Amino acid sequence: MSDADGRPRIGPRAHITGWGAYAPPGVLTNADIEHLVDTSDEWIVSRTGIRERRVAGPHETTASMGAIAGRRAIAVAGLDPDEIDVILLATLTPDYWMPSTAALVKEAIGNTRAAAMDVAAACSGFVFAYSTAQAYIAAGMAKHVLVIGSEALTRFLDYTDRSTCILFGDGAGAVVLSASEAPGGTMATELTTEPAGAYMIWIPAGGAKAPPSPGTIARHEHFLRMEGKETYRFATKTMATTALASIERAGLRPEDVDLFIPHQANIRIIEAVAKGLGLPMERMFVNLDRYGNTSAASVPIALAEAVDSGRVKISDRVVMVAFGAGFTSGAVTVEWTADPANGRRAADAQPRDIHIRQPLDWNSVDPIQPALAAVLAAPGPISVPLDDVVSGEPEHADRNGAGAPVAPLAGRGDA
Ligand code: UT7
Repeated sequence: MSDADGRPRIGPRAHITGWGAYAPPGVLTNADIEHLVDTSDEWIVSRTGIRERRVAGPHETTASMGAIAGRRAIAVAGLDPDEIDVILLATLTPDYWMPSTAALVKEAIGNTRAAAMDVAAACSGFVFAYSTAQAYIAAGMAKHVLVIGSEALTRFLDYTDRSTCILFGDGAGAVVLSASEAPGGTMATELTTEPAGAYMIWIPAGGAKAPPSPGTIARHEHFLRMEGKETYRFATKTMATTALASIERAGLRPEDVDLFIPHQANIRIIEAVAKGLGLPMERMFVNLDRYGNTSAASVPIALAEAVDSGRVKISDRVVMVAFGAGFTSGAVTVEWTADPANGRRAADAQPRDIHIRQPLDWNSVDPIQPALAAVLAAPGPISVPLDDVVSGEPEHADRNGAGAPVAPLAGRGDA
């Protein structure tokens, strides 16, 4: 066995057999953010392409959202949750420092056998976790791996900092990777880490270097900070080179790729990637207008949405590419082998019984920041369905999702 570039290939290939996503029902529009910081819908749309983002409700966490997306992916793969051997959950917003969020997800999805752990590579986390899963499969250590990207970023944003709070949102996406000797599946991966950018996107306090204290709270050091321009420069340069390395390792050229699933950070960055690869924007899947940047969840949400909306066919070459804090960057090239209709067929198997076990004798605070909660509670017109992770014509619903139509498709955010 050898890959397209002639290198010996070890073990079976990892094929994507399941996919799923979850977007919480709360919507924060650009108009809402105008009430929080000095900004405008016009500025946000023209500089980023983002129009709105989702906000996890008080009862929701990174684990609960990841569990819903994970169960959807398992249903699409036609598996029982207990057939999953390994659960990898990429996040920069874990429910707790410990235990891992993956451990909570394992219990919530009803799996008793899997090894479960978190992967920390910020917005590249899903691609890093995917690559790890692929290596487990190639080494013969696992048959089915659940790879999740899940984020509750709105819990870690400073809603007095207009340069960051406009960008990020909450949500989760997942895939099941399954071992198979059949042709296609994962063809090549590329991962890079550039620590010169370590403090370009970071959360200064809460770790061992700066444990929580009244001072760290007063200085807003538990919130995400970012040097936007430097990050932008890194992203535009690195996304295209990382994608190209993965494509070439797969023995392909950029024009052979049917669809790119890029990290959804900024439409201008995605346009630069298309330009860098010499491709039209039609080859780039974009949904950041509706979700903003959901970090490790961004690629798997976009993938699930792309497949369920008919943008991916069997035998298509698909490249997922991400960048993020670290600086990290990763790309994976796959030849699609699953029936895209499986996602729609599994719509009836939506999980309704996800339950994250709560700690004993401990009452947590309300996790939603008061300023954000006040904006979300204010009545206002909402112009999109609050439950669609699949694309389609927006339908009108009220602010809290009442009246939103139930789409008969997988990946709805209504659980
Ligand atoms: O997953 C990785 C996460 N990070 C990213 O992907 C972010 C990458 N960076 C970016 O996407 C862009 O750098 C931003 C969208 C964050 C900023 O866009 P920019 O075109 O680089 O703007 P800028 O930082 O150069 O700021 C231009 C101006 C500044 O005002 P002055 O100094 O020219 O008077 C900012 O103060 O825009 C101002 N500004 C804003 N104005 C209105 C910054 N944020 C805002 C805002 N609303 N939200």
